[in-house]
This record gives sequence, structure tokens and C-alpha cells, in this order.
Amino acid sequence: MKLVIIFILATLAVVNGFMCAGCPSQMDPEQAKEVLNNTLNKVATLGGPNYSVGKIYTASSQITSGVKYRMNADLLNDSNQSVGCDVVIERTAATGITKATFNCSNRGVFKISY
Ligand SMILES: *[C@@H]1O[C@H](CO)[C@@H](O)[C@H](O)[C@H]1NC(C)=O
Ligand SMILES: *[C@@H]1O[C@H](CO)[C@@H](O)[C@H](O)[C@H]1NC(C)=O
Ligand SMILES: *[C@@H]1O[C@H](CO)[C@@H](O)[C@H](O)[C@H]1NC(C)=O
Ligand SMILES: *[C@@H]1O[C@H](CO)[C@@H](O)[C@H](O)[C@H]1NC(C)=O
Ligand SMILES: *[C@@H]1O[C@H](CO)[C@@H](O)[C@H](O)[C@H]1NC(C)=O
Repeated sequence: MKLVIIFILATLAVVNGFMCAGCPSQMDPEQAKEVLNNTLNKVATLGGPNYSVGKIYTASSQITSGVKYRMNADLLNDSNQSVGCDVVIERTAATGITKATFNCSNRGVFKISY
């Protein structure tokens, strides 16, 4: 009986993961890389630091009034040295405006919108 209950709970958890429209869900690593790469290119062309994508540790996407990505990743600077950053990228569908916040160790917080 106990086993059956555990099985049902596990099934519900899986179903929730797919069905919960407003919940963060884990991103495909290739997709995460692409989103981060595109954002970093924007940052560089708008005069910010020129970082490239290093290792991505965690990445999730969440449907808001657009889409919100949260990532923890190593970014590489011009001399290929990695800096660990928490990145939040949020695109609002109605305005088409993307806001990105980079919170990097030893680098403080860097924000951009475009
Ligand atoms: C990042 O984007 C640039 C410009 O769109 C592209 O040339 C490059 O191959 C991309 N790099 C990765 C790792 O996806
Ligand atoms: C950023 O760095 C990459 C690789 O080093 C280079 O190809 C690109 O031109 C740089 N972009 C800017 C805006 O400096
Ligand atoms: C790259 O990062 C290293 C380590 O944080 C730093 O010492 C160096 O000045 C940075 N180089 C550039 C070009 O930003
Ligand atoms: C950084 O690494 C890339 C790919 O490994 C390499 O092509 C590039 O020459 C390196 N740049 C520096 C400044 O070390
Ligand atoms: C940046 O990250 C540090 C370490 O995780 C955290 O203590 C700090 O509150 C963050 N700052 C912002 C503005 O999110």
C-alpha cells in the first residue's frame, strides 16, 4: 500500500513538471547556450564587457508575461578567464524588451536592456 502511494506521488510530480505552465522548467543545454550566447553578443555590441559562454551549470526557463531564463554559468572574458555568474534574462512579450542581469563573482552586478 505504501509503495502504491509513493508511486502515485512520484507520478504526480512528473506530471506537474510538464503541466505547470507558470513554473520554471529545466532547459535543454544547447538551447540555454544559444540564449546566453545571443544575450552576450548583445551586451558586447551595446558596449558592455565582451564575454563568451563557458560552462553552464544550471538553466531554467519560466513562462511569465513573456519568458524568463535563469542561469548559473561561467563566462569567459577576452583573455579566456572564467568568471562565475548568475544570469537572469527576461523578455516581455508585450513590449519586446529584454532585460538581462549579470551578477558575477568579484564583478558586481551588470544590467542591460534592449
Ligand atoms: C554565438 O553567436 C554568434 C553570432 O550569432 C555565432 O557566430 C556563434 O557561433 C555562436 N556561438 C555559440 C557557441 O553558439
Ligand atoms: C568579442 O570577442 C570575440 C571573440 O574574441 C570577437 O570575435 C568579437 O568581435 C568581440 N566583439 C566585440 C563587440 O568586441
Ligand atoms: C579577465 O579576467 C581575469 C580574472 O578575473 C582578470 O584578471 C582580467 O583582467 C580579465 N581580462 C579582461 C580583458 O577583462
Ligand atoms: C580563447 O579560447 C579560444 C577557444 O579555445 C581560442 O580560439 C582563443 O584564441 C583564446 N583567446 C585567448 C586570448 O587566449
Ligand atoms: C549577487 O550574488 C551574490 C552572491 O550570490 C548575492 O549575495 C547578491 O545578493 C546578488 N546581488 C544581486 C543584486 O542579486
